[in-house]
Amino acid sequence: MNIIIAKSYDELSRKAANFIISQVTLKSSSVLGLATGSTPISTYSYMVKKFKEDEVNFEDVISFNLDEYIGLGKENNQSYRYFMEENLFSKVNINENNINIPNGLADDIEKECISYEERIKNAGGIDLQLLGLGRNGHIGFNEPNVKFEAITHKVELDEDTIEANARFFESAADVPTEAISMGIKTIMMSCKVLLLASGKNKAEAVKALVKGPITPSLPASILQLHRDVTLILDEEAASLL
Ligand code: F6R
Repeated sequence: MNIIIAKSYDELSRKAANFIISQVTLKSSSVLGLATGSTPISTYSYMVKKFKEDEVNFEDVISFNLDEYIGLGKENNQSYRYFMEENLFSKVNINENNINIPNGLADDIEKECISYEERIKNAGGIDLQLLGLGRNGHIGFNEPNVKFEAITHKVELDEDTIEANARFFESAADVPTEAISMGIKTIMMSCKVLLLASGKNKAEAVKALVKGPITPSLPASILQLHRDVTLILDEEAASLL
């Protein structure tokens, strides 16, 4: 595991953007796995900046987001589709047809999960998967006591995740309780993984991810077995290492 400790959230974001841009520079048709949440917001801003400065071209990039809430569509400003449009897609030249995010409004969620996994396979698999880290050690919406062998599937969100995500909604009662998420197996099959963590409230999960036992109760711990993982942490997130 390659661990990079940045002095600040800003430095972490610059390094993460450069990492992703290098991937796209080396392979213009890269398949990127993308994440939402607070952590990558500034990474996406730096990617947009580099695009505007003509330093990267997303024309041939294919993207697959990790997850989406069930029941929220792209017009809902809390959906992950909306988040991605706001923070990245509408600001760079990615081709609309190359954007993939699970459809939280699908009539048949089971079918949507199977087709999402097939679309990833048909694209040739994920070259670089970007991840955030939940305070409870989740990656994507793979909550504690996850099945490591799971592929894209429907998940019930953990109480801690609902509470953590309530900051984006009027109240915790408005946070959807179900989502579609890539599974741990989907994530583990990516060629490269880049995980970002910032702030003191992630320090325990980072410590368990790096130094703890590999256990379904800390889903991110499975990354110890991945062949090409980079963590970019700020000093607070790395403070217990
Ligand atoms: C987002 C996702 C989640 C977040 C995690 C951390 O697509 O899958 O696993 O990465 O909850 O969220 P933040 O960055 O808001 O702390």
